[in-house]
Amino acid sequence: MEYRTPFASRIPEMVRARKRTVLLTGAGVSAESGVPTFRGPDGLWRGRRPEELATPEAFARDPLAVWAWYQWRRERVAACAPNPAHHACAWLDRQLPEFQLITQNVDALHQAAGSRRVLELHGCIWKARCTREGTVQEDRATAIPESVPRCGCGAALRPHIVWFGEPLDGGVLAAATAAARTAELMLVVGTSAVVEPAASLPRLARQVGAYVVELNPEETPLSALCHEVHRGPAAELLPALLGYEAAP
Ligand code: OAD
Repeated sequence: MEYRTPFASRIPEMVRARKRTVLLTGAGVSAESGVPTFRGPDGLWRGRRPEELATPEAFARDPLAVWAWYQWRRERVAACAPNPAHHACAWLDRQLPEFQLITQNVDALHQAAGSRRVLELHGCIWKARCTREGTVQEDRATAIPESVPRCGCGAALRPHIVWFGEPLDGGVLAAATAAARTAELMLVVGTSAVVEPAASLPRLARQVGAYVVELNPEETPLSALCHEVHRGPAAELLPALLGYEAAP
């Protein structure tokens, strides 16, 4: 493993050479926008067991409590704007002909920054899904509901989020796996890399020969397999590494 400064990185040369690039992001990329991470000191899971709120069993037991938690999260996300890391990701999307952004985040801040090729592994907080038909609809309500929101068909709606114990959307996972399998450059930004199958995507890319770079203030289980590791906040590091400066 090599530790390098942002200014001695192979990233600029690889981007200039239009290498096939995959960018995997986690909650850390949105931290500087004010969206809480999951496992940090002020993380969303702090003091809560995820099974209490983010499982199908929790929803079956008390759907209103689960909706109330998601509406609270929506309110927080609604007050947040993309930060320079999101803008740098969108810039990369514009630069590269073969590019895939894969995010574990459900806040849609990548799209708000202008990223177009985004795979949302864990769903989207701004969508709801019919528990009977499986249809997905945009849902931007932030008020705590008095009763469980309903689909036009009468069945309960649920957040369009992948909960613990649930499989990822097969099409999204297949597309993410295919991208990782053919990546030449894999950037891993702001994820603790402990949740599967997301955490396996950089490993897969590494196995097939991709150059793997991690950006994270802390060490993760992936750090040891990376070619470059950069320690620090994504909003500073990513634009610096890419040589991207946001328009004033
Ligand atoms: P975590 O909260 O587990 O990890 C956040 C990571 O971001 C940590 O490794 C931090 O060191 C890093 N970090 C914190 N601040 C940062 C900053 N300013 N810049 C860069 N990195 C920073 O979040 P995820 O890895 O995204 O799943 O968690 C993965 C999944 O676990 C989530 O998608 C969610 C959760 O359970 C579901 O809800 C299905």
